[in-house]
Amino acid sequence: PEDIGIIAMEIYFPSQYVDQSELEDFDGISKGKYTIGLGQSKMGFCSDREDINSLSLTVVQMLMEKNKIPYSQVGHLGVGTETIIDKSKSVKSVVMQLFEDSGNTNIEGVDTTNACYGGTAALFNAINWIESSSWDGRYALVVAADIAVYATGNARCTGGAGAVAMLIGTNAPLVFDRGVRGIHMQHVYDFYKPDLSSEYPVVDGKLSVKCYQHAVDKCYEHYSTKAQSAGFKHGPRLLDAADAFIFHSPYCKLVQKSCARLLFNDLLREHSPDYNDRYRGLEEYKELKFEDSYFNRDAEKAFMSACDPIFQQKTKPSLLLANQVGNMYTPSVYGGLASFIVHSTVEDLAGKRLVLFSYGSGLASSMFSIKVTDNVAHDSALHKVYENLSDIPFKLGNRIKIPPVEFDKIMKLREETHNAAPYTPTGSVDHLFPGTWYLTSIDNMHRRKYERK
Ligand code: ACO
Repeated sequence: PEDIGIIAMEIYFPSQYVDQSELEDFDGISKGKYTIGLGQSKMGFCSDREDINSLSLTVVQMLMEKNKIPYSQVGHLGVGTETIIDKSKSVKSVVMQLFEDSGNTNIEGVDTTNACYGGTAALFNAINWIESSSWDGRYALVVAADIAVYATGNARCTGGAGAVAMLIGTNAPLVFDRGVRGIHMQHVYDFYKPDLSSEYPVVDGKLSVKCYQHAVDKCYEHYSTKAQSAGFKHGPRLLDAADAFIFHSPYCKLVQKSCARLLFNDLLREHSPDYNDRYRGLEEYKELKFEDSYFNRDAEKAFMSACDPIFQQKTKPSLLLANQVGNMYTPSVYGGLASFIVHSTVEDLAGKRLVLFSYGSGLASSMFSIKVTDNVAHDSALHKVYENLSDIPFKLGNRIKIPPVEFDKIMKLREETHNAAPYTPTGSVDHLFPGTWYLTSIDNMHRRKYERK
């Protein structure tokens, strides 16, 4: 099969948010820490009306309806998530309800979990299925969805929630490059969820930031070597060979720092760096060791400043949803892709190479890339992808702002009722976007029922 990639894409985020500047006041921390220090403006969150099943139902049905895809045409469906409400029954099995009327039960795939990486694992499974002898010619559907919530404290502001669905098939407008995936996997306790009765992770924040940046370095190295063999680039500068670098975004500032790390990586590999141009002011860091680079404030500043034009052009456009919704966990990097797409025009996107970095604590990470088609005809598949995502800014602007004190109450309610059965949710459904699935009840056998707005 030729040109395997994204045929259609849909993003869902909650219709309510808390303002990060108001949250700074409410949390009584120094003004600017969340907004400037971490680079976050708003954080989407869910009441007790939404859970991982409802998010996944919502995003899948929206994708299928918008693109008029018959349910019979899907042969593989995988859900990547770390929002676990059942240790056995998959979210995929719940989503199968949407396929009932079509009679299609012949669908491979289940759920994949490793922190924020599960969506990428599901995506790779989908691509691999189409490349395999198991492929029967139909589409693969990838869902990445999560509700990212932290206990009160310094990590809470880095939450978020959302879902993405991607229809994967052949002759796609966004084609995954073959043979270039850069992978880094390692055993670390940076962020994990050992308490199965709680929605909250155990987090070693500083370690997680270091692990993320180390994973960027390793994946960039592996991707870069493969990209060179594939002929995408010549010489050490991968930064020039791609038109976008889209990162998993725990918070936007970390992405900006990570983009700058790519320049650091390039510098280390240059035989004769041009200190009058790209590497101006960076001479003293040519010998800097990776181990000494993490949390090195001077180096961070110098590389961020030198890398700023590249960041502004190749990464910043991908941060709209990250800045406005927060860390959606598994969908984060794909929210970055959607943000980058809607920031551009179809003509601008044509022929571009987009590099993606996916990170899930624990840890699993990959760098891989997409080549956008050159076909910009008005009825092209690229136009369709673009048009379907183009309501993102409008939807972001159409959300309701909830005061931090209310947000805090809703978090408490989630905390107290997580795993409760029987349970009847009390959150209002008035402000949910049309087409949103929501939880109506949990019976004494933990069976969940949903309705659609
Ligand atoms: N004005 C402007 N900037 C400020 C202010 C202020 N008033 N106060 C602090 N800052 C800056 C700090 O200088 C710092 O910037 P720097 O990183 O450039 O030095 C930044 O704001 C953050 O401040 P810290 O004190 O480092 O923040 P803290 O340690 O309290 O929390 C953390 C940050 C660790 C990210 C925490 O929110 C967390 O644990 N989040 C969850 C884990 C996470 O997201 N990890 C990332 C990868 S793993 C994943 O994706 C889940």
